[in-house]
Amino acid sequence: MKNRLKLFIPGPVDPFDDTLDALSRPMRSPFFGDAYWRDIYWETLDLLKQVFQTKNDIILMTGPGSGVIEAGLASLFTRGEKVALVLNGFFAQRLKVIMQTYGYQVIQIESELGTAIDVDSVRQALGEHPDIAGLAVVASETSTGVKNPTQALAELARQYNVPIFVDAVSAMGGFSLPVDAWGLDIVCTSSNKALEMSPGLGMISISKRAWELIDARKDDGNRGWYYNLSNWKPMVGNRERSFLTTPAVSLVMGLHATLKHIIETETLAGHWARIAWAQRVARAGLRNLGFEMLVRDADASPTVTTFIIRDDMESSQELQSYLVEKHDFLFSTAFGPLSERVLRFAHMGKASTKDYLLPCLMGIEEFVRVVKGVAVPVGASLVGLTETIGD
Ligand SMILES: Cc1ncc(COP(=O)(O)O)c(C=O)c1O
Repeated sequence: MKNRLKLFIPGPVDPFDDTLDALSRPMRSPFFGDAYWRDIYWETLDLLKQVFQTKNDIILMTGPGSGVIEAGLASLFTRGEKVALVLNGFFAQRLKVIMQTYGYQVIQIESELGTAIDVDSVRQALGEHPDIAGLAVVASETSTGVKNPTQALAELARQYNVPIFVDAVSAMGGFSLPVDAWGLDIVCTSSNKALEMSPGLGMISISKRAWELIDARKDDGNRGWYYNLSNWKPMVGNRERSFLTTPAVSLVMGLHATLKHIIETETLAGHWARIAWAQRVARAGLRNLGFEMLVRDADASPTVTTFIIRDDMESSQELQSYLVEKHDFLFSTAFGPLSERVLRFAHMGKASTKDYLLPCLMGIEEFVRVVKGVAVPVGASLVGLTETIGD
């Protein structure tokens, strides 16, 4: 594998240079009242609340996205409870495994891979199971590039008076997911997707109602220690002791830099707009080259595009290998049954800039011309896009 790759995979993404610089700053002590560190830490939490569009508590944990997901699921429910799960991809399947590990009964509501869940099917399941304790959904199913209808599902959860748990790992920061306006009880994300940082931090927002449920189940003894949100609760808003264990100091400094860039330099709306712009260019460019999208435009996640190989291709790996060998562009295939025929093209971090996107489309164009022998003129991928991308 090459030393220097350009990442078009849906995480980790290529962070911007300010973030990389912040990651390599000298170490600070998170203890002993270091004012520099304290300001960074509290400002980071404040900036995160702006991205989550919430006044709810946010806890920042060291670990992968699955860590905060496990903490949320472990703390919100209790053994034997029924939890409804929207199941239409690999990461929803992961939620199911975590829930089963904790002894919950999973009531799964499915849709075909590549399609968003039908809200009526969820309504029906909630109606059939009046004893359900909550609803869980993956907002942006990274394995298929589908955006599920989180707002409508939150509305449904409110009607049935159950909490909604949202895996927002490839959603939060990539498009508007307003936690307070939509009434999302637990929302989890990680640092290395639309927040455009390196992997290693997870963030979880917890509503008042979620805290009440967590407190009510505090003594059930099924939650472990690190991922037990009740153990974190005394640290929330506590400026003297704001973390349960030694925090990942360098990662927090990197996160602080990326969030400052998103909120103060770019603005949150500008950040979403960059990602949405990249999605538009990628989808139009691929269609110009004869690729079909796996997901229809209305259900497509802005952060990751999934596209089907052309009829003259044998497998998705053919294009994946060409791009990495000739251009150092790293793509990933879809998962499981889709992997042979579907590639994933992510629009987060540097991959959502013109500097990455245009050479990448030209590289795909070149593959069609050189490897497939199709007479594609140079620039064919960009036809119709000049208004969007400039000259
Ligand atoms: C939607 C979604 N959920 C959960 C995860 C798991 O995140 P991690 O690998 O950081 O644990 C991912 C990772 O890609 C994801 O895309």
